[in-house]
Amino acid sequence: MVRPRKAVARLKKYRPPLEGRGGKMRLDFNENTVGCSPVVVRALRRVLTSDWLARYPEYEEGRKILAKYFGVEPKEMLLTNGTDDAIKMICDTFVDPGDVLVVPAPTFPVYQFFHEIAGGRLVGVRYDEDFRLPIEKMVAAVKKRARWVALANPNNPTGTTVSKKDVATLLRAAAGTVVLVDEAYFEFCGETVLPWVRKFPNLVVTRTFSPRHSKPSSTRVTSAGTSKRCGPIAPSSAGGSTPWASPMCRVPPILS
Ligand SMILES: Cc1ncc(COP(=O)(O)O)c(C=O)c1O
Repeated sequence: MVRPRKAVARLKKYRPPLEGRGGKMRLDFNENTVGCSPVVVRALRRVLTSDWLARYPEYEEGRKILAKYFGVEPKEMLLTNGTDDAIKMICDTFVDPGDVLVVPAPTFPVYQFFHEIAGGRLVGVRYDEDFRLPIEKMVAAVKKRARWVALANPNNPTGTTVSKKDVATLLRAAAGTVVLVDEAYFEFCGETVLPWVRKFPNLVVTRTFSPRHSKPSSTRVTSAGTSKRCGPIAPSSAGGSTPWASPMCRVPPILS
């Protein structure tokens, strides 16, 4: 038998429910329980032809529209196949074996998943008993040569937010570290650091259509970053993104 890499063999199995969720109140994946907007359904019906389904998507038009929506240049944004794909691209681009990722604990497990596949090590900074994130401990952990930091804001599963002041503190302290601010739940809190992507060259912001727009079945991640950031990430994405993927932006990255 050909053995997988050690980093892969060590991974804990992720066991999501693979069937039997239809017709039930599904809260386990943070899906929108009232369904997708009828406007989206109408738009999809309009374009859904056998030819459309048979073609790899053309990204440029959608990218321009989304860039306008997010207030960034198209070249500052990548489209990815969901936030998960954006996270994988960050690991493919920046993580060597032994590199450190700093995350709040607990948080969305996918950062750890792709980081460990790349052979990286995880440092978790625990929330205090009032579910506040001790930002000074995050900063201290980052200063010990972290390669990247992942901050879901708002966080999953705590539902807590980190103030913009604290995010700025982290960004300044982590000038040589990639800082991903995952704004998958931005629409539930309204605070964003997306405009900072031009100010902080180490910042990547992701947004997703999944939770707010209730479209996980056709997820589009848009991450916006500055061109410096998108520059290094883009080559790892097979020409902007894989032919079947959606959007991700980089240097101030937005994913949606
Ligand atoms: C914090 C966070 N980021 C990203 C995602 C997944 O986003 P996507 O469906 O775009 O991969 C989730 C889904 O649970 C999440 O909780």
